[in-house]
Order: sequence, then structure tokens, then C-alpha cells
Amino acid sequence: MPLPELFLQELKLRNDLAEIASSYVHLKRSGKNLVGLCPFHNEKSPSFHIYTENNTFYCFGCGAGGDVITFVRRIENLDYWEAVRFLADHAGLTMPENTMDDGMAKLKARVLEINREAARFFHAQLWTPEGKPALDYLLGRGLTVKTVRHFGLGYSQDSRFALVNHLQKKGYTSYEMIQSNVAVESRSGKAVDRFFSRVMFPIIDLRGNVVGFGGRTLTDSKPKYLNTSDTLAFKKSNGLFALNFAKNNHQEPLILVEGYMDVIALHQAGFSSAIATLGTALTSEQARLIARYAKEVVISYDSDEAGQKAANRAIPLLRDAGLQVKVLAIEGGKDPDEFIRSFGEQGATRFKQLIEASGNDMEYRLNQLKKTCAMDTPEGKVAYLNGAAELLAALDNRMEQEIYAGRLAEEVGIERAAILQQVNKNQKKFTASRQKREFREMQQQISGMKDRVNPEKQKYLRAANAEEGLLACLFRLQDQKLAQQIYQELPPEKFCTVFNRRVYETIMGRMMSGGGCELADISGDFSVEEISAISRILAKFDMLALSIQDAQEYRDLILQEFQKLRAEQLETVQPELQQYLQKLREQKK
Ligand code: GTP
Ligand code: MN
Repeated sequence: MPLPELFLQELKLRNDLAEIASSYVHLKRSGKNLVGLCPFHNEKSPSFHIYTENNTFYCFGCGAGGDVITFVRRIENLDYWEAVRFLADHAGLTMPENTMDDGMAKLKARVLEINREAARFFHAQLWTPEGKPALDYLLGRGLTVKTVRHFGLGYSQDSRFALVNHLQKKGYTSYEMIQSNVAVESRSGKAVDRFFSRVMFPIIDLRGNVVGFGGRTLTDSKPKYLNTSDTLAFKKSNGLFALNFAKNNHQEPLILVEGYMDVIALHQAGFSSAIATLGTALTSEQARLIARYAKEVVISYDSDEAGQKAANRAIPLLRDAGLQVKVLAIEGGKDPDEFIRSFGEQGATRFKQLIEASGNDMEYRLNQLKKTCAMDTPEGKVAYLNGAAELLAALDNRMEQEIYAGRLAEEVGIERAAILQQVNKNQKKFTASRQKREFREMQQQISGMKDRVNPEKQKYLRAANAEEGLLACLFRLQDQKLAQQIYQELPPEKFCTVFNRRVYETIMGRMMSGGGCELADISGDFSVEEISAISRILAKFDMLALSIQDAQEYRDLILQEFQKLRAEQLETVQPELQQYLQKLREQKK
């Protein structure tokens, strides 16, 4: 069910995009628009624009764009209805009833209910005879019953139907269970439990919803961990385990570890700011999420090679998100859980010392570099200095560069100025190649997105450009009479590209029934990516004055292209038709 018109207009009126966005982005005025560093990708020079005239945004770097509802969808990671509710709350409006009728939102709500019900079920199993081995396992790993309860840990029994049967009794369908990924479809088409014989770690989002699970085997069987796949309610790459707890207690720094068990052991030892990714490498989305809750983060990955590699990859992402980064070194190949346990009563104190002694990321990287250089030879020293000058060149901060250059100079016994000179040289190279790389990556991303949203555009370029021109006119002019006139002469079937046709139909549908057709009015009908593509069109035409006459010219162009295309199609179809008829005749002979 669409939102009631009056409510939507009120919502738009009371939520100014510039005001909402400015609590996430530092905005500066630029002519009639506002610009800032894009919150949706990492960048050093601002390409995020807010168009105050029509309350839309567009980033020329990453191609993200939309209206105020889409902005909230993206930045708060919400679906359409949740974003509307967010803005309604912000503006003190009451949500209209029945808006949850929307199919996707309904299914998502069911998915969340199923997850909560499953978490309860798994947790209850721990206190039954079947679950005893799992409870013993957890206690055997040093967890207290209080910790087990705090994290809502559980057990999935050795059965392929325990949870499915339980959920069925509660009225959930197989389809909903499969959508939640607590069940999978068997070959015979039945839903069967996805998790069995595993200790279950519920994953809880920032609003307190259970969104998924990690399940650990009790034995040596593979895989060691089985995690929920992405669902309507769960996206692995942008959640963080235990952030729901960590965000509330304002302990600095946040401690980023690799495993669920590391997080839990740390919380039990009093470090309630420990968090972990959900079984994947850290993403830039997660880095930005962390930056919203802390200024400083300590990476505390396993000290094996894989852990160190992962740390090296995480450092630039966290730095780019504006965080101060430290890296903690645990000796002897242990992970944080093992480290704490190995010191018994002293575990927490010892870990605290480790945090205090942890070097920042530059010290960590310099140390790693030094290990690879033969420092007792002149060649080794030169290699070290060259490598160090490259690392320092990557810093944005001049002061930091000077400090490290000073330390290196003292360490190796050469002039600080010589090191800084080398750093400067590298920096020029580095900046140029980074800019080139960023530009290339963004171009690829944008063109990839364009192709996904409107795959026919390249094929029908002339027609598609005219279609976009007309859409821009309709959005800009907001002229009902004009819309009616154009619609009569240009039915949607004459649009060449399916996506532009859908946008046209949606705008026209609203205009004909007397509704508004700003981007915010139609954003509920499109995905976030599709809205970005529409914003791109608006941004492209922003500098141009558009008149009724332009709209009519675009209309004529579209009609011409349509005629041309039909003529071409007839030409290519005819020989085939001839061949076909010929074949028929031959068969008859
Ligand atoms: P324990 O052996 O129980 O102490 O595990 P851990 O918490 O120390 O985890 P480990 O360092 O082995 O792995 C870190 C994280 O990677 C885990 O918490 C999981 O999220 C993920 N992970 C580990 N093994 C697997 C696996 O086999 N499959 C998947 N998908 N993820 C895994
Ligand atoms: Mn471990």
C-alpha cells in the first residue's frame, strides 16, 4: 500500500535533506547547492552534492543519489518503510496505519520474528539433556553461565527438523523459514534445518533484532563455523558482532577481533568494546560504521600469518574512515581468547597491558618492514629507509610524517631532511597514482551500475538520452497540463529502454492523478540503486535551463527514434520470415 498523499507531503516538508544530511556530512555552500565529502565512499575531495531546489543529492564520485528518504535508507541501512518511520519520528509525525502491508516489509518482519524465535529455541536447548554437551563445551571454554545468557548462546540439536517443526507449530511457513536461512530447501522441496549439532551465536543488530547466526561445530568437522547467508534482514558485509553492546558503553578504543569467541571472552573479561566482523574480511562500510561509535580502534587479530595479512588490509580502510588505528601484538600465535585464558585470573590485566603497549599502525608497519631487512648491512638499512619513506608517503598528516622521519633518522643515523625529501618524492607519485586509481574504480563502478539499472542504454543511446532529457523536464517543470499533453502523444510503449519507460509511467501515473512527482514521491517504487540512476539524470541536467519547448523536442526525438527502430526491426525480421516461409513450403513438398 502506498503512503497516503497528505502524509508523504508533510513528511517531505518537515524533513529538509540538507538538515538531515548535515548531521552525517560536513557541508559547504557552493552556489545554490551544498557540497561535502561523500558519506557513501571514501574520498579526499568533495563530490557529494545536495541540490537544495529539489531536495536531492548526488555523488559524482560513487554515483549514489536520491531524495531524503533514500538518503536515510542508505546511511542508516534501512528499508523504505523503516526510513519513512525514521523520518516521521524525526519530524514528530505519526505513521499512518497499515503501511506495513508492503510485501517486502512484511516478509522482512517475518524473517526477524523467525530469527528471534529460533534464537529462543536454540538457547532453551542448552538447558535440556540433548544440549548438555554444548553447554559443557561452552563452560569448558571458560565461559560463565552469565556470559552464555548475556550473549544468548544456544545449541541446534542433531536433527534436521527440530527447528523447522517448532517454527511450523508457531505458524511460520517453509517459504518464510527458507527466506530467513534458518532452513534450506531439500531436494524433495521440504524445508530442513540449516544448523544442526552446532553451538549457536546469535547476531544482533543495532536495533536489538536477531538478524542471523554463526554456528560452531563441537567437533573437528568442517566447516568450523557456518554463518547465515545474506537475507532480507541480514547483510554480512555491513554488520558487526556485539556492536549492539559495544556502542552503549562508550569504552574507547573499540577492539576489533576476528572471532565470535574472542569477542565473548573479551566481554567476559571486562572489555565490552570488543567487536568482530561476521566471518568475512573487514569492509569499508564496516569501517565507517565503527567510526560512528569511536575515534580509535585497536586491531587485535590472530598473530598467525592470515591474521596479520587481514590486519594489513584493515588498516587503510579504518584510517580512511577517519579512525586512529593501533595494532596489538600477541606473542606466540594465540588469539585474544586463548591469550586471556592462558593467564587465568591475570588475563584481563595482561590484556590491558597489551592494549596500552600496542603501537599505532605506522609503528606496526615499520616494525614489520624492519623484520624483512638485514639491518646490520648498509643495503638492509637503505631498503628499510626506502620502504619506510613509501609508508610515510601514504600518511595525509604532515606532522606525523615529520615525527616518524625524526625517529627513523635517529634510529639509522642519517639526516631527517634526507628522509623527508624521499617521502615528498614518493608522495607526489603516490597521490597521482591514487587519484588515477580512485577515478578509474569510480568510473567502473558508476558505469557498472548504469548498465545494471538500464542495460539497454548503450544499445539505444540516442533514444535513451532523449528519454532522460524528457524525464528531467518532467521532474523540473512539475507541470500537470504539459504532462497530460505529452502523455497523449507519447504512450509509454514508445520508450526504447525498459527502465526509463518505468520511470515515465510512474511519474505520469502520479501526475495524472494529481499527485506530486518529486523524487521523494516516487522513491518508494524503486530500489536504492535505481533511485541513484534517476538522481544521476537530474544531476546531469542540473546546470541546464529546461523549458516546455525542450520537453516537446525530447518527445519528438523519442518518437523519431521509435519509428526508426521499428523500421529497422521490420527490415531484419523480414528476411527471417522469408526463410521461415520457404522452409514451410519445402516441408510440404
Ligand atoms: P574458535 O576455534 O571457536 O576459538 O574460533 P575463533 O572464534 O577463534 O574463530 P577463528 O579465529 O577460527 O575464525 C574467526 C572467524 O572466522 C570466526 O568467528 C568465524 O566468523 C569465521 N570462520 C572461521 N571458520 C570458518 C568457516 O569454516 N567458515 C566460515 N564461513 N567462517 C569461518
Ligand atoms: Mn579462537
